[in-house]
Amino acid sequence: MRPAHAESPCVHPVPGTDAGHVDSIPASAPPPVVDGVSAAVGNTPLVRLQHLFPDSGVEVLAKLESVNPGGSTKDRPALAMVRDALATGRLRPGGTVVESSSGNLGVALARVCTAHGLRFVCVVDARTNATTVRTIEALGGEVDLVSEPDPDTGDLLTARLQRVQRLLVEIPGAVNLHQYGNPANPGAHRDGTMREIAEALDHRLDLLAAATSTVGTLAGCAAYLRAHRMDTRLLAVDAEGSVLFGGTAAPRPLPGLGAGVVTDHSRTVEPDAVHRVSGRDCVVGARLLARREGILAGASTGGIVAALGRTVADLPEGSRVVFVVHDGGAPYLETVYDDAWVAATLEVDTAGLTAATAALQEAASRA
Ligand SMILES: Cc1ncc(COP(=O)(O)O)c(C=O)c1O
Repeated sequence: MRPAHAESPCVHPVPGTDAGHVDSIPASAPPPVVDGVSAAVGNTPLVRLQHLFPDSGVEVLAKLESVNPGGSTKDRPALAMVRDALATGRLRPGGTVVESSSGNLGVALARVCTAHGLRFVCVVDARTNATTVRTIEALGGEVDLVSEPDPDTGDLLTARLQRVQRLLVEIPGAVNLHQYGNPANPGAHRDGTMREIAEALDHRLDLLAAATSTVGTLAGCAAYLRAHRMDTRLLAVDAEGSVLFGGTAAPRPLPGLGAGVVTDHSRTVEPDAVHRVSGRDCVVGARLLARREGILAGASTGGIVAALGRTVADLPEGSRVVFVVHDGGAPYLETVYDDAWVAATLEVDTAGLTAATAALQEAASRA
């Protein structure tokens, strides 16, 4: 695949010199100094993409949640849920948080709990990236690994939720923030993610695409759109094998996308469209985004890119689309970005990936 087009550097004249000063970073006001890393959560960049789907006739922008301090969308709900639990007294100073997470919420909570002097136990399953587990531990969290799926449903998420219940009984005063139903989860996206997008675009947006797991992101964005009477269409990107939005349960090879149980948040939102993506779609989309735009993203974002590739050419010309970059790609270097893993786990070889990439680019072209 060809690399993204070279960007032209900005040239600023330097006062007092004859020579022009070549600077690849345009001059702008520096961001303000903030107190504590939690204050650096949010206000993420919104980037207009120029090379992803160049013949689509559609303006495509990416909301880079991957540049949050914890590297994912989950920084926002983690902070909001801990603050809410402390404010209501549900969580005592010095107490313990027990949460089930496929990884990103675990990383975010590990940091937030450490910063608030809380103990954190994170229940993960075998699909969680090794790097993510080590990151949680490096930030002071404790990891409890569930290796066997629930025998009745065959689902790992169900088994994780059962482990959480056991730990809540075993650890005195332990609190579960229940990201699957906690209103502070979508609240963080309503008041943060979506508000930032809408305000940056003068509330003019035709389509918002987000991946779904707890459905906190999508539900929060939907709540903002309703409150502001915006007619933006919502595209939910869910995994094949997820039971959300009427899906049928099946094994899901990649973490962070889809759910094995219908979440409370999913009942509060009716997306205009639901696209179910395969593991191969996630790989193709993620690699295309990396090679075309220089944005290294995780699996679920790859799924969004694949879903959008099949959608953009059917939108009215000149439509404006925003999608969420839920996390960065570094933890996926040994899965999504590794040919041997893709061949062994998803049974797709390099020729298959090349063909699928060409088909996606073709689908995204209006010509
Ligand atoms: C990798 C990834 N994908 C998708 C999502 C969306 O998940 P949710 O529906 O729980 O907001 C998240 C949330 O942070 C995520 O980290």
